Amino acid sequence: MAAPPVPPRHVAIVMDGNGRWAQRRFLPRLAGHKQGVESLRRCVRACAQRGIGVLTVFAFSSENWNRPAEEVSGLMELLAKALTREVPQLSQEGVRLHFVGARAGLSDKVRAGLELAQSQTAHNTRLVLNVCFNYGGRWDIAQAAAQLAARGVPITEESLDRALALAHVPDPDLLIRTGGEMRLSNFLLWQAAYAELYFSERLWPDFDEAALDEALAAYHARERRFGQTSEQVQACA
Ligand code: IPE
Ligand code: IPE
Ligand code: MG
Repeated sequence: MAAPPVPPRHVAIVMDGNGRWAQRRFLPRLAGHKQGVESLRRCVRACAQRGIGVLTVFAFSSENWNRPAEEVSGLMELLAKALTREVPQLSQEGVRLHFVGARAGLSDKVRAGLELAQSQTAHNTRLVLNVCFNYGGRWDIAQAAAQLAARGVPITEESLDRALALAHVPDPDLLIRTGGEMRLSNFLLWQAAYAELYFSERLWPDFDEAALDEALAAYHARERRFGQTSEQVQACA
């Protein structure tokens, strides 16, 4: 019998479609975001069960500040509540949380919640969950370059890579976007250089274990060539 395929080390997800999920049910958009939190909880568990070591999710982009003030404050409130409610259970399941993104612009309450969740889960080793919040790929590249410049370190691919906000994990192998749009929307611009891209029509609250398995099956069917020819890849397999 053939050995089971090796799971991707790192899966990244643009969790898109919460608003449409709610609107289709004549509910306020925030109800979709709440359901999105449920979907994330299920997805984290499913990834851990499948041996995926790192999950990075896009929860709030630098550009999402442009949404109506009511939605933005609702999202901030939802994050603060989710942190107090979910962290103990996530920690029990061996999840280590990292919040990736600019802290500037976040309220003291949200900021304190993020720091506490990180320190409370710092000892866990089963799955690293990076939550990109107030994050943009351009912000990350610019902050990394600014850090290096301030320290007088020459900017190379390696030094920049080490100064980026996701330096603690390998680059994503698989990048999933739900909700049907086929764009990155400023997510992982640097790190996704060689990620396999997978677009799902499912709205994020509907993205269940079966949908994850479909994405993983599509990933396993790809040939990752990293610039080589197919013959070279086959010869090394
Ligand atoms: C993604 O869902 C979540 C956030 C951007 C916070 P959306 O809110 O973008 O959902 P749609 O795209 O409007 O359906
Ligand atoms: C990307 O979704 C950001 C998150 C999922 C957090 P958006 O819904 O904000 O992306 P655009 O605006 O359609 O590109
Ligand atoms: Mg959207």
